[in-house]
Amino acid sequence: MKKILVLISALCVTASGLLFVASAQNDMTPEERAAMAVDQRKALFKTLRFNLIPIASMAQGAPFDAAVAERNARRVAAIASMIPEVLAQDTRDFDAETTALDSIWENMDDFTAKSQALEDNANAFADAASGGDFATAMGAFRAFGGSCGNCHDTYRVDTD
Ligand code: HEC
Repeated sequence: MKKILVLISALCVTASGLLFVASAQNDMTPEERAAMAVDQRKALFKTLRFNLIPIASMAQGAPFDAAVAERNARRVAAIASMIPEVLAQDTRDFDAETTALDSIWENMDDFTAKSQALEDNANAFADAASGGDFATAMGAFRAFGGSCGNCHDTYRVDTD
């Protein structure tokens, strides 16, 4: 019984903490909200890169680990499905530190299609890697890895 009470009070603390975060968001200025949206999407893209790096290393000669390759590609697919959500907030009118091009918000359908292409190609790669054969996996790698640049070429300031 005591344990249950402790658990319930812990849950209440967590819930009130979340409510605090939600109400803090309401109190933010539009500039602060835009800065937060930019932070959030950059964090998402960094997490994509974090998951892609081990796979790209395998493509370049690091030992092939099919389980890691499949796992990370499935993560990329899941995260890719969030790209349109984190870009839903239009930050064009704000002086944010961003490499996102304004054209994203003029072409949301195409931008979403490019996110979907990454998701599909990541899953196709994961399927190919799941068999454990390096050559089969790598046959699906070009389309997968290319999906990142394919969007960057159109919707991101050229930083390369
Ligand atoms: C549908 C479009 C799209 C796809 C697909 C995409 N990106 Fe991006 N990426 C962007 C945009 C837009 C930005 C600019 C974000 C900003 O500066 O606000 C970005 C920025 C980044 C950044 C820089 C983040 C920062 O801290 O400034 C990295 C790293 C990145 N992407 C990696 C990847 C990787 C790796 C993939 C593929 C697994 C990928 N992206 C796929 C659109 C995309």
